[in-house]
Amino acid sequence: MSAKETKLHGDVYYPSDEIVAQANLPDWGKAATAALKDLPSFWEQEAQNLEWFKPWEKVLDDSNKPFFKWFTGAQVNIVHNCIDRHLKTSPKNKLALIWESEDGQLHKTYSFFAMNREVSRMANIIKSMGVRKGDRVTIYMGRVPEIMFAMLACAKVGAIHSVVFGGFSVDALRDRIQDSESKLVITCDGGYQNGKLIELKRICDDAVEQSPSVENVLVVQRTDHGVAMNETRDHWYHELLETPVAKDRCETEVMDAEDPLFILYTSGSTGKPKAILHTHGGYMVGTYTTLKYVFDLKDEDRWWCAADPGWITGHSYIVYGPLLNGATSFMYEGGPTHPNPGRWWQLIERYGITVLYTAPTAIRGLMRFGEDWPNQYDLSSLRLLGSVGEPINPEAWKWYYDVIGQKKCPIMDTWWQTETGAFMITPTPVVPLKPGSGTRPFLGQEAEIVDEDGHPVEDNQEGYLLLKNPWPSMLRTIYGDPDRYVDQYWSRFPGKYMTGDSARRDEDGYYWIIGRVDDVIKVSGHRLGTAEIESALVSHPMVAEAAAIGLPHEIKGHGIHCFVILNEGNAPSPDLAEELRQHVAQHLGPIVRPEEVSFIDKLPKTRSGKIMRRVLKARALGEPEGDLSTLES
Ligand code: PRX
Repeated sequence: MSAKETKLHGDVYYPSDEIVAQANLPDWGKAATAALKDLPSFWEQEAQNLEWFKPWEKVLDDSNKPFFKWFTGAQVNIVHNCIDRHLKTSPKNKLALIWESEDGQLHKTYSFFAMNREVSRMANIIKSMGVRKGDRVTIYMGRVPEIMFAMLACAKVGAIHSVVFGGFSVDALRDRIQDSESKLVITCDGGYQNGKLIELKRICDDAVEQSPSVENVLVVQRTDHGVAMNETRDHWYHELLETPVAKDRCETEVMDAEDPLFILYTSGSTGKPKAILHTHGGYMVGTYTTLKYVFDLKDEDRWWCAADPGWITGHSYIVYGPLLNGATSFMYEGGPTHPNPGRWWQLIERYGITVLYTAPTAIRGLMRFGEDWPNQYDLSSLRLLGSVGEPINPEAWKWYYDVIGQKKCPIMDTWWQTETGAFMITPTPVVPLKPGSGTRPFLGQEAEIVDEDGHPVEDNQEGYLLLKNPWPSMLRTIYGDPDRYVDQYWSRFPGKYMTGDSARRDEDGYYWIIGRVDDVIKVSGHRLGTAEIESALVSHPMVAEAAAIGLPHEIKGHGIHCFVILNEGNAPSPDLAEELRQHVAQHLGPIVRPEEVSFIDKLPKTRSGKIMRRVLKARALGEPEGDLSTLES
């Protein structure tokens, strides 16, 4: 049955004949059935599209669940497939990356051939600093081409990169450097965002001073605004590029498929951020396959993933996925509204972008400036759109579809996580769309929605979203804390992966994500943990206790609201509330600045002392407080 003949309920958008005719995967239903019938064969066929130094003995090793392994026995390096492989064939001369600075004054392009040279030079430089297979390297940079070189250089020499989002500040950076025991930090002197200079090097200095594992800091010059350099520890990248160390050629290290590629810190239930670990082999196959089918990549595409490389979206779909597919990517340094709300639309016209992938918060933020801005530009090059990071409200979906996509570009609403490495619930261009739904699990995946006891719920009932099948780009563990990996994802509903999200499935089998069920707050698509925010507040001398919750926000999706108990002898005041908001922003980063800080005498807690954020949230929203039987009196 073709997509159009399927009778679906609600507001449905069917793909045009043109879209269906050009799809990389024209018969989604058939492919999905075949993949589920034989999961290892499906992934094996995809893996065969890539080059391996040594083939695998087994596609999926599930003998030690939930520590799944993929492509065991194989040898590979993701960089070989991102870059080296393309040097022998036509993509060699193709653009891998197009970049523009926030002020529009700088434009850079790199062919796959040039990419190889830049990555090799950076790889030789970090090798000369003693970085070897298995070492951790923290990367704390803005959105500049060198962040890509840095990530790929680490992977090329077998080091494990740990990118920390450039919007984070000292405490967040320090904790992540310390936890990973990074030997090297790669940063920039500064960055630009919304017309403001971000003091990356200064923040980095403060964090590195408290991190004894760091031997060297490599500094990319971007702003040239004059930063202090520690003579023995800090090195200018542009100066090292002039030395014999920075040779154009560097051997790509042979890695086992299961060797770590990177760690990326993310927030989960209570406690410090978790270092999610991904590997060379499985992550490579997952990102390659998902991007190819979901965004239907073609040779002539100009792909723009407008996320930041510091988050998983940037890792998988700015850096690795597009290069694996030999695609041309565009990267823009700045924010969407600087110097005006037409900036993104100007870039689409200027570079002939064919696919735009962004977050609902950006759409909502641009939508409020009206249609006149996008209408000034020629957006006719676009053929597909994408959404990620949080549920997209139907109003924003329709604006994106009507105004930006001009009613001809299907929107791929991709649900996934840092942990999943690649899309998990997502349409492909041939799948009929319903605004706000990620449609169905990707090839090889099955999802389930269950109640507290793990029983599947009825259609349209809300419950915990679980994934049933292993997939190649799944996280392998939490770096340094395998027990937490088991506990966090696999223990509550044994044998199934717990996503931490709630969702419902409708009568057509379409999934609708509702939101997080744990202590994660999604602010403008950024995943933040209450624990980090609360500990930043408690680090203020006047604060005794604190609780953070997320409340709905028109543009950001959710905003942070904090409740604070002051130490004896301190009086609440609007000035102090402002000071505390500022304190959090200074310690963790501007994106973490609370919307509001309220003073309170007592926090609702369970008898075992856990803060009941759910109760605070219900009170703030004027909703019923639910079951209070565990509340301490
Ligand atoms: O709550 C879901 C939400 O983002 C969470 C994962 O966050 P993070 O690890 O930072 O990765 C974000 C980018 C992949 C999920 O648990 N989320 C992600 N995509 C969607 C979404 N919620 C609704 N719809 C989506 N398309």
